[in-house]
Amino acid sequence: MHDKTDELLKKKEKAKQGGGPEKVKAQHDKGKLFARERIELLVDEGSFEEIDMFVKHRATDFGLNKQHYPGDGVVTGFAKIDARPVALFSQDFTVFGGSLSEAHAEKIVKIMEMAMKLGIPVIGLNDSGGARIQEGVVSLGGYADIFLRNTLASGVIPQISAVLGPCAGGAVYSPAITDFIFMVKNTSHMFVTGPNVVKTVTHEDVTFEDLGGAETHAAKSGVAHFIFENEVETLLNIRKLMSYLPLNFMDKPQDTSFDESSLEPIKELDTIIPANPNKPYDMKEIINLLVDESEFLEVHANYAQNIIVGFARIGGMSIGIVANQPSVLAGVLDINASVKGARFVRFCDAFNIPLLVLEDVPGFLPGTEQEWGGIIRHGSKLLFAFCEATVPKVTVITRKAYGGAYDVMNSKHIRGDFNYAWPSAEIAVMGPKGAVEIIFKKEISGADDPQKETEKKLAEYIEKFANPYIAAERGYVDDVILPGETRMKLINSFKLLKTKVDKNPKKKHGNIPL
Ligand code: HXC
Repeated sequence: MHDKTDELLKKKEKAKQGGGPEKVKAQHDKGKLFARERIELLVDEGSFEEIDMFVKHRATDFGLNKQHYPGDGVVTGFAKIDARPVALFSQDFTVFGGSLSEAHAEKIVKIMEMAMKLGIPVIGLNDSGGARIQEGVVSLGGYADIFLRNTLASGVIPQISAVLGPCAGGAVYSPAITDFIFMVKNTSHMFVTGPNVVKTVTHEDVTFEDLGGAETHAAKSGVAHFIFENEVETLLNIRKLMSYLPLNFMDKPQDTSFDESSLEPIKELDTIIPANPNKPYDMKEIINLLVDESEFLEVHANYAQNIIVGFARIGGMSIGIVANQPSVLAGVLDINASVKGARFVRFCDAFNIPLLVLEDVPGFLPGTEQEWGGIIRHGSKLLFAFCEATVPKVTVITRKAYGGAYDVMNSKHIRGDFNYAWPSAEIAVMGPKGAVEIIFKKEISGADDPQKETEKKLAEYIEKFANPYIAAERGYVDDVILPGETRMKLINSFKLLKTKVDKNPKKKHGNIPL
């Protein structure tokens, strides 16, 4: 028996070494962690239960029959994060560069299918040279098997991807189908084709980092939702993200306790909106004052900064926040902001995370660039997302709610549950200046003093429309509230909405304007 036990322990020890100490050192020298070290940092201590440790590839070409590493370049299994279960895989770059063989793909598919049956999130730590070249089409098939599972799991269980090394070719599409992508500055790269192919096809000279590094994908393409300085920070932030999420679409996010003394009115909020309606202010200050412990996990922090999205807790309840940012492009909605907002709203709706909308929006961005880029198509994604969302939805209009953007940002008409406005709110078809120039064109041009006439009409318009009371008279806002009381009001609203039930008509699926 001893021999058999020893044999098992030896086999396990060998599997744990991946490609061996030299390859692990090379990995460390690049500033990257070994696949197993990453798991240790990600999950609760001692909670990892590995499966398929002895799996080997079945390829024989190109001398592969003589090269076998148990586990075949990916560590898979189940673990706990804050005592809640997750399924995970961690690609091991020290074995064939983490490349995806048939067997490697089967391991990933296996844990994804288990995760779906169990209703638990999947976290993928990607670090791979892509399809295992020696296996040819079999490896491509393995990717397709994963893409299919990613798609079927979408909206059923949260799927989180960390890209912790290269991610090239079609391999980028598995992370892209998942809900959130984390990248690390300088060591993560994602591209459909690398710099060499780019040079051949488009004659552009571009570095790995510029083409597909973390900062590029966080700020320019919007592919990455979160980027961090190093892997440790990245893994700890995956843990943080998980704390806001339920295990699956039938589960609810967990409530935590909160400091009851934080229910006092917040005086700073009463003076936070500048007297001049054209002066910007930072919506993040408002968010920090409203949420528990001022803790806000911002998603897409570097992309389309005119809209802010992210997770927080209010009264211990997990919520998703969508807020216009008046300090960037006056908080206008453009193509990128609409797509960013829509994707976030749909995630929250899919996973029962209530939505808080903080609104100060002058409208959609005009101009040929936006029109030709399809602002109509992309803007309607945000509209569609808010319309179809059945989770609790609360809006606070802090200042401007103009035009189509008023409708889009979770208005009462599209099933906002509680819609509040601050006294500083201006709810109108358009801003006073634009409106006056259109509707009083004749009076102004025919006046002895057009300037004076404009000012008079402006004052009239502001008096009539630049306030929340006409909307309140119609019940389009449920209440006009003191800014300082907003936190308490929101906590009470979300508590009341805990029993909300709303449904969309039965259908195969909607046709969001992609
Ligand atoms: C087999 C691979 C491999 C691959 C790397 N290796 N990529 N083995 N298939 N795809 C092996 C290397 O031979 C090497 O083995 C070890 O991994 C480490 O690779 P290095 O090149 O030494 O490392 P580094 O210098 O860090 O470069 C990493 C890299 C580079 C940028 C990932 O290896 C590379 O460009 N690989 C090919 C990437 C690629 O084009 N993949 C196919 C994409 S298309 P030894 O034994 O020497 O240590 C694709 C299709 C998916 O994935 C389709 C889905 C629809």
